[in-house]
Amino acid sequence: MLKKIVFLSLITLTYTASTAQTKTTPIYLDDSKPVEQRVKDALSRMTLEEKVAMLHAQSKFSSAGVPRLGIPEFWTTDGPHGVRAEVKWDEWDQAGWTNDSIIAYPALTALSATWNKKMSWNYGKALGEEARYRKKDILLGPGVNIYRTPLNGRNFEYMGEDPFLTSKMVVPYIQGVQSNGVATSVKHYALNNQEMFRHTSNVKVDDRALHELYLPPFKAAVTEGDSWTIMGAYDMYKGQYASQNQYLLNDILKGEWNYKGVVVSDWGAVNNTEQAIKNGLDLEFGSWTNGLSAGTKNAYDNYYLAQPYLNLIKSGKVGTKELDDKVTRLLNLAYKTTMNKNKPLGNVGSEDHKAVAKQVGEEGIVLLKNQSNTLPIDLNKVKSIAVIGENAIKMMTVGGGSSSLKAKYETLPLDGIKSRFGKQAEVKFARGYVGDPGGEYNGVKSGQDLKDDRSAEVILNEAVELATKSDFVIFVGGLNKADHQDAEGVDRKSYGLPYNQDNVIAALAKANKNFAVVLVSGNAVAMPWIKDVPAIVESWYLGSEAGNSLASVLAGDANPSGKLPFTFPVKLEDNSAHQLGEYPGNKEELAAGKGADQKNPINITYNESIFVGYRWHDTKKIKPLFSFGHGLSYTTFEFGKAKADKTTIGQDDKITFTFTVKNTGKKAGAEVAQLYISDLKSSLPRPTKELKGFEKVFLNPGEEKEVSITIDKAALSFFDADKHSWVAEPGDFEALIGNASDNIKTRVKFTLK
Ligand code: GLC
Repeated sequence: MLKKIVFLSLITLTYTASTAQTKTTPIYLDDSKPVEQRVKDALSRMTLEEKVAMLHAQSKFSSAGVPRLGIPEFWTTDGPHGVRAEVKWDEWDQAGWTNDSIIAYPALTALSATWNKKMSWNYGKALGEEARYRKKDILLGPGVNIYRTPLNGRNFEYMGEDPFLTSKMVVPYIQGVQSNGVATSVKHYALNNQEMFRHTSNVKVDDRALHELYLPPFKAAVTEGDSWTIMGAYDMYKGQYASQNQYLLNDILKGEWNYKGVVVSDWGAVNNTEQAIKNGLDLEFGSWTNGLSAGTKNAYDNYYLAQPYLNLIKSGKVGTKELDDKVTRLLNLAYKTTMNKNKPLGNVGSEDHKAVAKQVGEEGIVLLKNQSNTLPIDLNKVKSIAVIGENAIKMMTVGGGSSSLKAKYETLPLDGIKSRFGKQAEVKFARGYVGDPGGEYNGVKSGQDLKDDRSAEVILNEAVELATKSDFVIFVGGLNKADHQDAEGVDRKSYGLPYNQDNVIAALAKANKNFAVVLVSGNAVAMPWIKDVPAIVESWYLGSEAGNSLASVLAGDANPSGKLPFTFPVKLEDNSAHQLGEYPGNKEELAAGKGADQKNPINITYNESIFVGYRWHDTKKIKPLFSFGHGLSYTTFEFGKAKADKTTIGQDDKITFTFTVKNTGKKAGAEVAQLYISDLKSSLPRPTKELKGFEKVFLNPGEEKEVSITIDKAALSFFDADKHSWVAEPGDFEALIGNASDNIKTRVKFTLK
């Protein structure tokens, strides 16, 4: 009997439990239900106050969920090159945690310079795993603003001057990050192409250049990369700030591109409630509150999409249509991130992550010049190596603005060179010059004290003396992330190398012909000494594995295969933004003090239109120091004659170009075959050539591979502003195939009907 009672009561218990389970699991929490049903259900349960609370920050880097319903808050973090240190609730300074150091990956300029889409996926996946492990939901990157001037302080965070290369390289990065259930926030949408006056400028650019150059990377990021969020920029366009901009956010992004994700403002980029409501902003961050200091209690209630918005609704001045659309977008984001129970767990600091950082560095380093095979260093002959220059010993992961990191480690160039060469050669260091001895950003300290009170002359003489008696000399200089170098918020003031480096390089070139200049930088620089220096390497900001990636290339363990993602002009005036302007803004307005505050914005007119970078240099025949797509190897490659599968194509046809690439040297290596299109006759002016395809080919010595690149009319089109549409004009075209924009190997003519 007893058993029976126990048995029966067990059944009842499970029955009630299970019915209890099904009965009380609301749809928004039921993983078996379709997302749009769950979103609707969640929305229907939320109060007005809860909906508005979700639209803005609750702390420096987080925004509210719905505590009552168990909908989690969103945690964002910088940045594009690694996961930023934990920040205090309501201040920029780091929180001082001891469990938040991470791997610092190479700057996105270096990733772009690999021209390797697979590498971009690896990078995004690794970075996304670290963000996931640090429990972040939105990674505030990647940045894809086009490199219009070499003075822009944030070019090191972006992917170069060409919209096609940037578009192709940013998509796999986004997919890699988001494969972890962490959203990316592609930024800064749009036209934030300089740091000077970024909060107080209005950009004027013709529609053609907007659609051919500045929008494509964002369009690719959201329509191909499916970036779950996008970050509005600071600057104004058509007189409205980009984070509350009808044309950019509603007409283009959510209209033409049918974007269903979340628009996040840049930090402090919102300054008008009605515009923020109506013009497509979904999530407001970083606003300074009205008249209250940032730290005041409930300061976040004073945000533009906070109490002011609630007041407008309650007073009947605005409806709740926009509100529900914004919250719907945020809930959809939640089901991909905070409420996604199938997310991987992520990880930090694994050997795999270190390997990714090192490989991106090795493949991104660009060998710019290598006269008489000065590089790689031949350890059979070289028994003493002089390493000269502050950038050989200066940490670069700290500083530069919001992309600054608290790295688990950073192998500096000197460290990497010592560990790679130290057993077979004597490696000695001399300062060469003194630049920025400090290193601290928002409380994250590099811990380095590079103070050196000796005179520049003494320091230079010491370097020359060491160079004279060494078998090989490596100068490691360039820029750094100090103000007015490669840094957010401030642009460079000049195109040349700072800290008297040009003189140091010139002196070292005289002292020893076995000499290589390594530039650690994120921007092009002038090279008055270029004729006297046999080998030049662009080594970017490579993060935790910087020294190892560099040493590996200098030793020839890795055969360099990087290609420049932007042009190095000889002088600043050769750059179109500086020749045609305007940079940093309209001259008269500049003289009148415009740009000082948001009440007096300065206009910046992009007179150069579509002629940016190689589009300008080719068309105007202005020879650069080094061209877009340029990069040497320790081996040699040969291109076979390209053939097309058609000589004439219709508007809806594709055309495939096939050619061989052969490694005719003694070392394995990789070549980047680049396909440019030239419209031989067009009703509108067009650049001499435009990049429309590329393929990275890895070849052993003697190996030959066939490469095919297929394009369609999109690659032949220009944007007709009058028709507001892309037009592929019938006529003759030419496909130019080569390994740099100024090194075309084979051409094929064809006709578009
Ligand atoms: C900064 C930057 C943006 C960054 C954000 C948060 O002002 O413009 O790139 O993600 O604020 O630090």
